[in-house]
Amino acid sequence: MSHNVTLDETIEVNRPLHEVFAYVSEFSRVQEWDPAVASAKKITSGAPGVGTEFQVDMRAGFSLHYHVEEFRTDERMLMTVESRFFSACEEILFEATDDGTKLRYIAQFDFPAPLLALNKIYPAAMDRVGKTAMAGLKAALEDDFETPKESGWLAAADRLVLPGLWRFTKLGYRASRRGWKPVSAYQGNRHALITGATSGLGLAAAKQLAELGARLTIVARDNAKAENLVRDLKDETGNDNINIEIADLSLISDTHALADRLLAAGGPIDMLINNAGALFNPRQQTAEGFEKSFALLLLSPYLLTEALLPLLKVSESPRIVNVLSGGMYTQKIDVDDLQSQHGDYSGSVAYAKAKRGLMILTEAWAERWEDIAVNAMHPGWADTPGVETSLPGFYRATKWLLRTPEEGADTVVWLAASTEAARVSGKFWLDRDQHPSHLSDRTRETEEEREQFLEMLAELKDATRSYSTEEGIKKSA
Ligand SMILES: NC(=O)c1ccc[n+]([C@@H]2O[C@H](COP(=O)([O-])OP(=O)(O)OC[C@H]3O[C@@H](n4cnc5c(N)ncnc54)[C@H](OP(=O)(O)O)[C@@H]3O)[C@@H](O)[C@H]2O)c1
Repeated sequence: MSHNVTLDETIEVNRPLHEVFAYVSEFSRVQEWDPAVASAKKITSGAPGVGTEFQVDMRAGFSLHYHVEEFRTDERMLMTVESRFFSACEEILFEATDDGTKLRYIAQFDFPAPLLALNKIYPAAMDRVGKTAMAGLKAALEDDFETPKESGWLAAADRLVLPGLWRFTKLGYRASRRGWKPVSAYQGNRHALITGATSGLGLAAAKQLAELGARLTIVARDNAKAENLVRDLKDETGNDNINIEIADLSLISDTHALADRLLAAGGPIDMLINNAGALFNPRQQTAEGFEKSFALLLLSPYLLTEALLPLLKVSESPRIVNVLSGGMYTQKIDVDDLQSQHGDYSGSVAYAKAKRGLMILTEAWAERWEDIAVNAMHPGWADTPGVETSLPGFYRATKWLLRTPEEGADTVVWLAASTEAARVSGKFWLDRDQHPSHLSDRTRETEEEREQFLEMLAELKDATRSYSTEEGIKKSA
């Protein structure tokens, strides 16, 4: 074997040193910037440091195993690499400049003799691969990507139902992700509040945001479950900045009390993620007298978001992400029966109507709050405990097509964290693409219905303002 220096590249970017180091040292994100990489993951727990290992699967069909040998924050990272075909040593040097950061990447490869011969025959090939990767890293760090626009083609496919439904599956996710851009925006100074993070999509989003370095406040109703989860998240990601707030969000008294505590604590909320949800069959009423889907999926996020406005307004790039559902496409808001009191009750219909209501709010808030990016998304069909327990028949029939919670939660994180998502508001997203909020005029509310709906919620805000947790509990007795 002989040492063969094949790559020594330097790039300069207009980003602070600590931001560049944070992005590059979480080396699993190499899949965002190196087009030769199919996927990558960190296979040890904790924040990147000496001893961290990454598995990088190459598009060419083989894997690389990285081991961090040296790690000096904001200065240097040294990794050894093993694979079926070669071993390597990769060194990354970071240096602050007047305008940003200089990054030098040096890779030394040890090829077995036959491959070394190949490299002699095609010396330009390795060089080209390296240069392409570094150009990708530079573009990732420059972070100047266009915001995806509405696509008439996607909207037409949605209206044809079957092509639209195909997008909800893991196949739709895989097709969409091909055109995605890196998300290198620094999250280390940002605070995310996320509801329903003890399971499924919320848990996946919380983990991704923790990995990006954000400070997290997790809203959960079960203290023991939340404490276990936070311990695991801290161990896995090395992010110690994770706090818990306890609230049963189907109780309006709890929602008000939560908002009061958060307001008293102060500080910006940069990302508010209204994700907690469930589907109720048969019809249930809370101790406070509200139908449960209405209370949990619509009234509670409405009250929480309106109350937290002062904390959102002090953020440099505030985002609100409302987690909806494709089921919303089937329903129109019924202002005369917001709580499904009349006719036969269906949990799926009550759920879809509440999600429709939150879409109307997304549009209304986007109009009213120009400085906040308010968006809604739906996760497609994801394999979560919520789907398994509330829709067992659907779950059994479609399990093989369901995406992972991480895949379903990707757009939540992208809307909350990416630079380009800050430039758009009031839209409905799936897999980082804009989709129409209605597939048929049948589900569109009139101007009067919209006004009435917003007035009814505002009245409920005033009427429930005096609720205290104790009153809520008394009502249940
Ligand atoms: N999975 C999908 O395919 C899919 C599709 C469309 C939309 N969605 C939406 O995605 C969101 C997350 O769903 P999921 O599939 O991840 O379900 P999940 O696994 O059941 O997670 C739901 C989360 O919401 C929390 N939650 C439920 N009721 C609550 C309450 N009263 N107070 C506080 N927290 C409460 C749960 O807490 P506990 O752990 O204590 O139960 C859990 O953390 C929901 O809004 C759902 O409507 C999901």
